[in-house]
Amino acid sequence: MTSSMLRPLIYLSVLSLLAGAAAQIYEQQTINASSVLNSSCPFTFYGRTYQQIYVTISNDTFAICFNGFYDPQTRGDCIVGPQFPFNQITFYTASYSYNYYYYYCYMVLYTSDYYNYNFSYTQFVLYNSTTGASVSFYEGNKGSWVYDVQVNGVTVDKLNINNSATSYYSYASVDIRGCRHSGVVYKPGTAVTSDPTTCYSLICDTSAVLRNVTCDPWERCQGNGICASTACTVTGPAVIDFYGRLGSIQDRCTYSLLSRLSGPSFQVLANFQERRRKDVSFVDSVALVLSGSGLFINLGQGGTVQVNGAPLALNSSALVGGVELFKDQSGVTARLSLSNYTVSVFFNGYTAQIHTAGPAGSPLSGLCRNSSVSLSEVRSAYSASGCEVLYNDTADSSVNCSAEMQRCNLLRASPFASCNDLVDPQPYISACVATMCRYPSVDELRCQFPQAYAGACSLRGGGAGSWWGAVGCASPQAYCPDRLCSSHEFCARGAGGSVCLCRALFAASHSSTGALGAPAVCSSNAASIALARCLLEERNISYSALHLRDGRCRGRMDEQTHMLTFSFDTSNTCGAVITSNDSYVTYSNAITDQDNSSDVIVRHDQVYIDFSCYYTQPQIRSISFRVKTKCVRLSDALKW
Ligand SMILES: *[C@@H]1O[C@H](CO)[C@@H](O)[C@H](O)[C@H]1NC(C)=O
Ligand SMILES: *[C@@H]1O[C@H](CO)[C@@H](O)[C@H](O)[C@H]1NC(C)=O
Ligand SMILES: *[C@@H]1O[C@H](CO)[C@@H](O)[C@H](O)[C@H]1NC(C)=O
Ligand SMILES: *[C@@H]1O[C@H](CO)[C@@H](O)[C@H](O)[C@H]1NC(C)=O
Ligand SMILES: *[C@@H]1O[C@H](CO)[C@@H](O)[C@H](O)[C@H]1NC(C)=O
Ligand SMILES: *[C@@H]1O[C@H](CO)[C@@H](O)[C@H](O)[C@H]1NC(C)=O
Ligand SMILES: *[C@@H]1O[C@H](CO)[C@@H](O)[C@H](O)[C@H]1NC(C)=O
Ligand SMILES: *[C@@H]1O[C@H](CO)[C@@H](O)[C@H](O)[C@H]1NC(C)=O
Ligand SMILES: *[C@@H]1O[C@H](CO)[C@@H](O)[C@H](O)[C@H]1NC(C)=O
Ligand SMILES: *[C@@H]1O[C@H](CO)[C@@H](O)[C@H](O)[C@H]1NC(C)=O
Ligand SMILES: *[C@@H]1O[C@H](CO)[C@@H](O)[C@H](O)[C@H]1NC(C)=O
Ligand SMILES: *[C@@H]1O[C@H](CO)[C@@H](O)[C@H](O)[C@H]1NC(C)=O
Repeated sequence: MTSSMLRPLIYLSVLSLLAGAAAQIYEQQTINASSVLNSSCPFTFYGRTYQQIYVTISNDTFAICFNGFYDPQTRGDCIVGPQFPFNQITFYTASYSYNYYYYYCYMVLYTSDYYNYNFSYTQFVLYNSTTGASVSFYEGNKGSWVYDVQVNGVTVDKLNINNSATSYYSYASVDIRGCRHSGVVYKPGTAVTSDPTTCYSLICDTSAVLRNVTCDPWERCQGNGICASTACTVTGPAVIDFYGRLGSIQDRCTYSLLSRLSGPSFQVLANFQERRRKDVSFVDSVALVLSGSGLFINLGQGGTVQVNGAPLALNSSALVGGVELFKDQSGVTARLSLSNYTVSVFFNGYTAQIHTAGPAGSPLSGLCRNSSVSLSEVRSAYSASGCEVLYNDTADSSVNCSAEMQRCNLLRASPFASCNDLVDPQPYISACVATMCRYPSVDELRCQFPQAYAGACSLRGGGAGSWWGAVGCASPQAYCPDRLCSSHEFCARGAGGSVCLCRALFAASHSSTGALGAPAVCSSNAASIALARCLLEERNISYSALHLRDGRCRGRMDEQTHMLTFSFDTSNTCGAVITSNDSYVTYSNAITDQDNSSDVIVRHDQVYIDFSCYYTQPQIRSISFRVKTKCVRLSDALKW
């Protein structure tokens, strides 16, 4: 390296400039033959600390060594190269510290020619600070100068100067930080040993400290450079990330489980929803999103699959935009495989398992990467507004927490014990206890945790055999494959099979007003009202018997939304009372299961829901002509 750097003794004057600093320059020594010199401060050379230097001066060789005079046979730690012209060599050490914050130490050897102003001088500076360590070489004599920096006699670096006729002097420097392992030096930030099968590596970290590290799970490389990962499991509210760390989601938002944001990028999202309790959420659907092609594949409840919003009839397998979809009785899997990475997403209605493999160092983020990351960082833009509001519910007295804990701990017993070495059961047990001690043990919930654990075990190549018998469960099956519920409902399993029940928040928002559905809606010549089937069923109202005052006007059940809609208009009023004045048209009708709707005597086991709404007449003389609809909430009109 050729440069016109400042002359190196400038360092000395810097020492006296900073206030609050403690600087010390030790007495100088001059030598003209091989000598042992003491440093005033300990000094690190590639991971080994020394306090003395051995300067070897011979007719053809100059060497600075740390563990004895230079001798090629003893294979020492040395800086060795050609002899340079000198009369005597001056040595001094200096240390400097600043409020204990910064510390450095110099050892300087320079030839007296330094002061001759003809620049025919040589200088070596060994520098060791809290932030680094280096050896620098300044040479004013013309020609090519190469000094080998050796550890155990092996050259690990070179100080290389070609001092041309036009430059006064040149400068070269090498970083002498490093780690030693089995007599070999490793540079900071390099791997010393790495064992792809155990995933444990010894590294020389960037501060030149040897460290044992566990590689990222997806950096468990196979021979072909593809690196497998462990699974990430989301079961109910619990997220068990790639490292086996447990997190939990309490709200009803959509979260990024995994994002690979560069290269061929994908995202795995999970939406959480409440079921019977407002304060416990469950993973309700998972989606694989490919940002390149804009493909959005959603795996929903009941084994349903939607591709970009449209339902996909999936019997056993299909290929959609490069994504393979498989369905069997245990659930649905979406798998994307490209040349050097794969991601697979499994969902069974309760549990999602994500497995990815890719090149080492793939930049991944999301809850599967770190389940304790701040939720606002991983909340997706697909989240519904207000989803992060948390609710409380009264404790469920039917829950026997100690009995549930006993069951959850079966994951340490046979037949799961054979998995315990492959997958730590503790996060699964903790997730099981956290949920089962708050939520009633219904809807096959308690079988989900052993199933999730057995699934994670089989993703790691293990198996718990026919585990289900040991915990009183059926063989793994997707949850409620036979029942499609709407978005405000969830599937509940009872002795009589599957039914759609209202989600707790939907039910609570209606029970506070007594309403059984959406408010009635009026337009200029028609009106309609929609009732939620799950609210009717909660009250044991048989919706097929319901009609408006005119018994011929029955409701229409939407098979997707599970809303029962009653409509009428001015040409077919269905028994409505329609009144109007200059400002409003008011429609009043009633929904009932009574045969004679004009009968004013309402029997207790019969249903009578009256409702009305009004429509604001357009102001004929108004300059800004507007149509407005106003609705009257179906107030506490349910009568028995
Ligand atoms: C070397 O130094 C010693 C004293 O340190 C001195 O006596 C001797 O003359 C010097 N030799 C040369 C060649 O300068
Ligand atoms: C250098 O240190 C060694 C051991 O600490 C001591 O024996 C020797 O006298 C010291 N030499 C000088 C020149 O201070
Ligand atoms: C070093 O050089 C001197 C003078 O040129 C000579 O007397 C001496 O023998 C040489 N030593 C070696 C080891 O070559
Ligand atoms: C520089 O000074 C040294 C010692 O004073 C002398 O030996 C050398 O010849 C000088 N070099 C030049 C280029 O003048
Ligand atoms: C500098 O030396 C001290 C010992 O005095 C040592 O603890 C430290 O690690 C060294 N710094 C570097 C960067 O090698
Ligand atoms: C040193 O540099 C000069 C001029 O740039 C060049 O001619 C010469 O070959 C170089 N010598 C070596 C050993 O690199
Ligand atoms: C790294 O782990 C191995 C095996 O567990 C142990 O022998 C070694 O001392 C550890 N090394 C460091 C630097 O912690
Ligand atoms: C799915 O299976 C049903 C009956 O098993 C069959 O009628 C239907 O055509 C199949 N659909 C597809 C897309 O294969
Ligand atoms: C992975 O594959 C992509 C193209 O599919 C390629 O651009 C990339 O270099 C590959 N990476 C590795 C580490 O093989
Ligand atoms: C996970 O995220 C938390 C919160 O941001 C952070 O404190 C923690 O260090 C992260 N863990 C890892 C391994 O990245
Ligand atoms: C739920 O109740 C607990 C204990 O009464 C209270 O600390 C917490 O703030 C409540 N949370 C919400 C969201 O109301
Ligand atoms: C709860 O379960 C434990 C263990 O199964 C049982 O001993 C206890 O009687 C149960 N408690 C209640 C209140 O049922």
